[in-house]
Amino acid sequence: MKIISVVGARPNFMKIAPFIRAIEDHNHHEHGKIEHILVHTGQHYDDKMSRTFFEALDIPEADINLGIGSGTHAEQVGHTMIAFEKVIHRERPDWVVVVGDVNATCACSITAKKEHVRVAHIEAGLRSRDMSMPEEINRLVTDRLSDLLFTPDLLSGDNLRQEGVAENQIRFVGNIMIDTLETQREKSAALQIGDIINQNAMRDSGQASSLIGPGNYSLLTLHRPSNVDDPAILTDIVNFLTNELTKKLALLWTIHPRTEKQLKTFNLWEQVMRTENLVPLKPLGYHELLRLNMDATMVLTDSGGLQEECCVLGTPCLTLRWNTERPVTLQEHGGASVLVGNDVDRIRGTCREMLKRSRIPSRPELWDGKTAPRIVAALAEFEAQMVNGGQD
Ligand code: UD1
Repeated sequence: MKIISVVGARPNFMKIAPFIRAIEDHNHHEHGKIEHILVHTGQHYDDKMSRTFFEALDIPEADINLGIGSGTHAEQVGHTMIAFEKVIHRERPDWVVVVGDVNATCACSITAKKEHVRVAHIEAGLRSRDMSMPEEINRLVTDRLSDLLFTPDLLSGDNLRQEGVAENQIRFVGNIMIDTLETQREKSAALQIGDIINQNAMRDSGQASSLIGPGNYSLLTLHRPSNVDDPAILTDIVNFLTNELTKKLALLWTIHPRTEKQLKTFNLWEQVMRTENLVPLKPLGYHELLRLNMDATMVLTDSGGLQEECCVLGTPCLTLRWNTERPVTLQEHGGASVLVGNDVDRIRGTCREMLKRSRIPSRPELWDGKTAPRIVAALAEFEAQMVNGGQD
């Protein structure tokens, strides 16, 4: 069996690492070797957004890099499809395996399907029902085209059934990101918070690296177009952070390249840089961010993956979005996260509540660190059935 798996952007890397390791294990222990080719579309290309993750998570260098880079959605998807089609023609894989919901996920599944190559989607069935999110479009297209859909939780399976996906295409395998979290947890825990600040601060952080420690800081990540592309919304958020939150609690803010660009465009950069008690950090490596999450009083984020990590670590999490494709992480489902959108009154009120909350780790079903082996076994089983004249 020959598999091409695809990564494009930062949140894909922690999902592909355990999958590659599970293929290696399969090849050591099982009959029927899997030939694997890793394709990086190159959507994220900065060292801090890409290479660091390959190194930290022991991902072998991509066999093929399409070098797509930044651009509009149509440019990224279009260029990826043109380049990936050539790869499919050359390699003729049995499967293309895609992860998550970024432009690479959607572009490569369309390309593969048009070339009659089977597609498997890891992290299938998540739905925000918000069609203004590019990721929601990517999820819908990818799931509609996929032959095998690997779901992270029970709600995602229900979404797929409601959309008419056949039962024999759905495999509930758990959350592959948690495989990475469990593998890397110990290494993260050994890092010192002060060292992370010293090595990544975007300005002189003064006393911060010695004063900030377990339970006395909040952690922020922000990158969604809905939060950072509108000057009025970003200004309100920045004013709340600089004028209110940082008066109560130190804030570590790891700044995504898109957000840095928008803060500069909207003349908010200086305000962020000169706020006392706010430490602007470069985009962090996997272990560094996990380490900060482990001891944060609370996390404020618009990232989906971070919501999931907060759930397992129990870190109170304000999700700066009006909806989520990951409801299993919400407090009402036993998780640690509360949706606050980008309304400052709501953020302020929820912050107050969160500061009183303690850590309550929660582990949805099959978030057990063993998702990747289940996926590889399912692919091998599906393939064996095909060879024996079974399903298609
Ligand atoms: C993409 C994903 C999003 C994911 C996020 C994580 C899609 C539709 N979106 O959004 O789901 O949560 O990655 O980071 O695929 N840039 C750099 N260096 C890089 C990459 C980007 O400076 O290595 C800058 C560029 O100015 C670029 C901007 O960041 O225009 C945005 O990058 P882009 O890949 O378009 O989308 P993200 O916002 O990162």
